[in-house]
Amino acid sequence: MHAELLRYWYPIARSEDVRERPVAASLLETDLVLYRADHQIVVAVDRCPHRGMRLSLGQHRDGVLICPYHGLEFGQEGRCIHLPAHPRLAPSQQFKLATYPAVERYGLVWTCLGDSPAPFPELNSDWDDPAFRKVTPDPVPIAASAGRQVEGFIDVAHFAHVHTGTFADPANAAVPAYSVEVDEDGLRFDYCSTVSNYALGSGTTARDFVWRRSFEVRLPYLAHLTVHFPGGRLNILNGASPVASDRAVLFSPVCFDFEIGTDEAVKDFNARIFAEDRLMVENQQPRHLPLASGDASFAADLASVYYRRLLRQMGLSTA
Ligand code: FES
Ligand SMILES: [Fe+2]
Repeated sequence: MHAELLRYWYPIARSEDVRERPVAASLLETDLVLYRADHQIVVAVDRCPHRGMRLSLGQHRDGVLICPYHGLEFGQEGRCIHLPAHPRLAPSQQFKLATYPAVERYGLVWTCLGDSPAPFPELNSDWDDPAFRKVTPDPVPIAASAGRQVEGFIDVAHFAHVHTGTFADPANAAVPAYSVEVDEDGLRFDYCSTVSNYALGSGTTARDFVWRRSFEVRLPYLAHLTVHFPGGRLNILNGASPVASDRAVLFSPVCFDFEIGTDEAVKDFNARIFAEDRLMVENQQPRHLPLASGDASFAADLASVYYRRLLRQMGLSTA
């Protein structure tokens, strides 16, 4: 994958899924192991420097990661501190494990594989406001590139065709004009329409209400949407973590300041919407965004046209 992608921060797990026991994750064709030690999460490459064993199958004891094959022990900075076959020998630098920084934000664990990390993406202050309830749905594996998934998330012309089982009205397909602003981190736009965000069949409606959806993209693969409801705000973080050029994992925590229902109901509604999107995203050809050659576009695709342009300007030929 393109080296330029290495400097960005990506989510690799939900905070709640990372406990003392080592777990595996994948990012940019790199297998990772992560575990929670004291008050810090350790992220390292999931490959023992001795014989390539997956360390995520090993154990963690008091901040030390132990390989299941020959018992090499690694400290939190990746240094090998014990080699059981030669207990009196101080293990050489050859046995050092590459580690990466870990940041816990928005209910997720983020890491960066590059040597000079880009600034960490700061989102709006609702995420730090205790008045906003947070729900973090299960991560969803996507058989398409991260770019495809993000483009689908900022697409405003598909609601009436794809989300007819969850919130959209098939008769309301026309897309009002909107404009896109570009800044050094990506793009943002407000999309105002009469497409309601209430669950179909919930009995809740807002007649004549104009729904404002404020979208943001932080390059390369982080998007954020604030839906302005009649009684509050719903924020959706759409973090597409690039596993490989044709695979991603979607993390989609939400926070809101009005009554929606139980956590399980929020997760269920969210899962049904993303399942509708996933069917589209996983069946587009090719599996990545073709940045060099152009697909045909219409005016409602403005956000996607800008997004593809910005990815191209990063030096990517596919995304
Ligand atoms: S493969 Fe890990 S200790 Fe040998
Ligand atoms: Fe969608």
